[in-house]
Amino acid sequence: MGRVIAVTNLKGGIGKTTTVVNLSAGFALRGSRVLLVDTDAQGNLSMALGVQPRRTLYDVLVDGAKLSDCISPARPNLDLIAADASLLTAQPEISRRPDWARVLDKALMPLRSHYDVILIDSGGSLTVLNVNAINAATDILVPTTVEPFALKGLEVLIQQLKRIKGNTAALRAIVPTLYDTRTRQSVELLDTLRERYGDLVLDPIRVNVRLSECTAQGKTIYEFDPRSRGALDYARLVEQMSARIQLGPATPPLAPSTPTPPMVTGAGAVLNATCPNCGRPLQRANVAGYRILYCDHCKYRRQELAAGDRR
Ligand SMILES: Nc1ncnc2c1ncn2[C@@H]1O[C@H](COP(=O)(O)OP(=O)(O)OP(=O)(O)O)[C@@H](O)[C@H]1O
Ligand SMILES: [Mg+2]
Repeated sequence: MGRVIAVTNLKGGIGKTTTVVNLSAGFALRGSRVLLVDTDAQGNLSMALGVQPRRTLYDVLVDGAKLSDCISPARPNLDLIAADASLLTAQPEISRRPDWARVLDKALMPLRSHYDVILIDSGGSLTVLNVNAINAATDILVPTTVEPFALKGLEVLIQQLKRIKGNTAALRAIVPTLYDTRTRQSVELLDTLRERYGDLVLDPIRVNVRLSECTAQGKTIYEFDPRSRGALDYARLVEQMSARIQLGPATPPLAPSTPTPPMVTGAGAVLNATCPNCGRPLQRANVAGYRILYCDHCKYRRQELAAGDRR
């Protein structure tokens, strides 16, 4: 059964959708089969991926449409169940059902054996659909900006997770977003975040204008500017999350017949390098311009820019 990752935060405009798009595209480039589910009536995922869906999540949840009719292919290994404004009218309908908090979980269940990962994007408030996303999740990833109000918001979110799921066992990672290394406040608050939440806090995603430009073009950051800081940070997050949910090492390159240029190359080649932890040979995968060296035995990983300057 594949994992279901809900990307959620009660605050809006903090990088949830940007994280869902570039994390899922990175998983797909590594060879995992990935499904994206948009539960936000703004419908940003289809725009961010340049996909024009015929049917949406509304048809799945309210009209009981066949799932296969509502899945749009977005990239090799990456499919999408999109959303649009019709989801706003779905919420009152769903909330009248006795099983209102689990309709998404039930709808996605038959798909979990087809995909390695299902990622759910959520809107920025505690709606019926956000409760459904949290209930469906095996893993919860919380993007957060590094500001005083955001830290308070994180505490509120964690209380809500306890209330909805009974505990916080599914809280898998906190990802600082829109991180500005030039401001002292950001640096200090990142330290506070790490003191409070320890290993749950992954490496931050820095502010990078290329990340907002690529969305407008319907491209992932690896397609738009694989040498940018945004691509580097998201490629690192892909590796950190893969290890955390045990997705396994990158598989060999995508087939040359795929419609978009392959971004994973050279996977599996054994280098003349050994693991600093256990001494076994290191494996290699190139993902979107980054060389990832990893050890199959002890899960050691190292990531470096394959070539060129960062923007
Ligand atoms: N690291 C970043 N650097 C620069 N801009 C970013 C970064 N991350 C996200 N953005 C931009 O910030 C804006 C908000 O990001 P995004 O849409 O991902 O947030 P969201 O949490 O999904 O918002 P909403 O709650 O409205 O769904 C977008 O314009 C996006 O392009
Ligand atoms: Mg969003």
